[in-house]
Amino acid sequence: MVERTLVVIGAPRRNGYTRDLSNHLIRGLERGGTQIDVLDLADQNIALCRGCYGCWGPARPGRCVQNDDMASALDRYSLASLVVWVTPVYYYSFSALTKTFIERLLPLTRPSPSIGPTLKLVKNALRSPETMPRKMALLAVAAHRDPRTFDGVTKTFELVAEGMGAEPVGILLRPESYFMDFPASKPVTMKRVQTAAETAGFELAREGRVSAETQRRVSTPLTRNDDTFNRHFETYWAIAKEVGSSGSDRKKITEAAARDLRILMPELVACFDPKAAGDLVAVIHFAFSGKQAGDWAVHISGGTCCLASGQPADWDTRVSCDSKTFVDIMLQKVDPRGAMAKGALELTGDRRLFSRFRRLFPPPST
Ligand SMILES: Cc1cc2nc3c(=O)[nH]c(=O)nc-3n(C[C@H](O)[C@H](O)[C@H](O)COP(=O)(O)O)c2cc1C
Repeated sequence: MVERTLVVIGAPRRNGYTRDLSNHLIRGLERGGTQIDVLDLADQNIALCRGCYGCWGPARPGRCVQNDDMASALDRYSLASLVVWVTPVYYYSFSALTKTFIERLLPLTRPSPSIGPTLKLVKNALRSPETMPRKMALLAVAAHRDPRTFDGVTKTFELVAEGMGAEPVGILLRPESYFMDFPASKPVTMKRVQTAAETAGFELAREGRVSAETQRRVSTPLTRNDDTFNRHFETYWAIAKEVGSSGSDRKKITEAAARDLRILMPELVACFDPKAAGDLVAVIHFAFSGKQAGDWAVHISGGTCCLASGQPADWDTRVSCDSKTFVDIMLQKVDPRGAMAKGALELTGDRRLFSRFRRLFPPPST
């Protein structure tokens, strides 16, 4: 059981994905019964380390020459047995907020050559080293999918932990952050990620470390492959532009993205079940009117399914409706049969194909 945990949040954006996920982690820590102190660096006035080594000099040993919030932060840090670093990935590294805080930990150490089998910095005896954090964990959140995105953060975390004489007890890496709230595509997976973050907190509090399985679950992919990721990523920022947001108004972008057919149509096709299709050969034409007016064609053949935008030359079934109606059907807010009965959705051609729709494209279950 870990007695005291300090969660250091180094995310400048208050409504970002890093904070979202850290809330799940904190819930788990609470459930696990550790005493929690959350140090939100965005609320602190902590200046850059000046590199003067004043804290190593005779005048103010173990204390910084600057007078800001770091003095009380150092006391809080020193009391913790476990520190959890929570940071967004900025240019393949910790955020400057987090890095600034780490640099200002210098008064906790004293000059040492750091030669030998470990990097261990020598702790400053004046700062009660016996109460220093003995364990460290990391939660890092990034927008990208490339696994190298986290190399800098992970390595820095491991070296900082070693240097400060703490054991690294959990590395939680969450890529593809923008897709963390696309409800139509990955509701079940997202729930799994959030549960894994909470479990990680619980394990940290109870066992003092995160299991490999929980770490793996936090990183569960939200997009199927790099191509899908790249396309959705570009659409996300196109939507941000269209809704007139700088990217900081995440709610506005997410709400629009959740209903955008440029994301929903590829996600629909990704749910295709080849077993349900058998030897079916068919083309379904979607003719949408309204806000997202446009044509899409879904081609099914030989147990595969592909999507094209624009009108197909030939089709077997045509689905005509307002784009809003179709989005509501996809989000399971509207029943397609009810929409047909009301005349809000019109079917032309082979109607049997439409009755197989749910079996051909079952909603995501992972
Ligand atoms: C200055 C800056 C640099 C960034 N660098 C990276 C990066 O190197 N790799 C990456 O995947 N995401 C990068 N991002 C995106 C963030 O990691 C992303 O927004 C993520 O969701 C975490 O931030 P949030 O908590 O504000 O949402 C960067 C964002 C900013 C503002």
